[in-house]
Amino acid sequence: MMKFLFSTIGQKIQIALSGFFLSVFLLFHLFNNLVLFTGEENFNSMVSFLKSIHTLIRIMEFGLLGIILLHVVNAIITSFKNNSANNGKYAVNAKTAPSNSKTMIWSGLIILFFFVIHLRYYWFTFQLLDKSANFYDYMLLDKFGFLGHTPTAIIYVAAILLISAHLRHGFLSIFKTFGVPASLRDGILKYVAILFWAVIPAGFIIVIFAIQIGIIN
Ligand code: HEM
Repeated sequence: MMKFLFSTIGQKIQIALSGFFLSVFLLFHLFNNLVLFTGEENFNSMVSFLKSIHTLIRIMEFGLLGIILLHVVNAIITSFKNNSANNGKYAVNAKTAPSNSKTMIWSGLIILFFFVIHLRYYWFTFQLLDKSANFYDYMLLDKFGFLGHTPTAIIYVAAILLISAHLRHGFLSIFKTFGVPASLRDGILKYVAILFWAVIPAGFIIVIFAIQIGIIN
């Protein structure tokens, strides 16, 4: 079992499954952010409610951290293996592999960097506030790290576009990893993938624009 888990194919399956869970997290996270459109009071009560069940939230955060580590560590190991393996032995090798799959590791590492900045400002700031704070105001701060700040908003949009490209390629390769027939890949699964790489990122970008142009204010 352990041997399979850490074989090349086992690692690809780990990357695919953890990547899928992270995408599902993004769907929930987008719903949380869309609550901003329903006004200050609703948003504050939602965050305050999440704080009131904070033990449960902590457990989920540890789960999420574990899934992120599975994704990142396996991706880095696979990328090293791909770079050193099979050069010259096969028609397809590290040098001839589709350039997309080589850029996955780089887009992934930049997304990880965005992620650290995002948590440093939003998640960490929210940790310091108590249940009765005005979280809504913090969402709109015109200060580096928050979305009322135009340069920060631009960095966010760029990061989300990169996430979109990363998810698009990720979903295409998930289906190949699991050997899904082309008929399904071109049918229903294509639309599932579009939800994750197009609709959800577009939702995040709409929230950022709404803050920047003052629809959310
Ligand atoms: C419009 C864009 C976004 C906004 C406004 C936003 C807002 C927030 C806020 C306010 C928090 C803190 C929540 C809390 O502690 O109660 C948070 C946490 C988080 N965000 Fe985002 N976020 C955005 C985009 C993203 C993206 C694109 C990702 C994925 C790469 C992401 C991943 C996370 C994660 C993993 C957490 C920690 C979750 C937790 O502790 O429960 N966010 N975000």
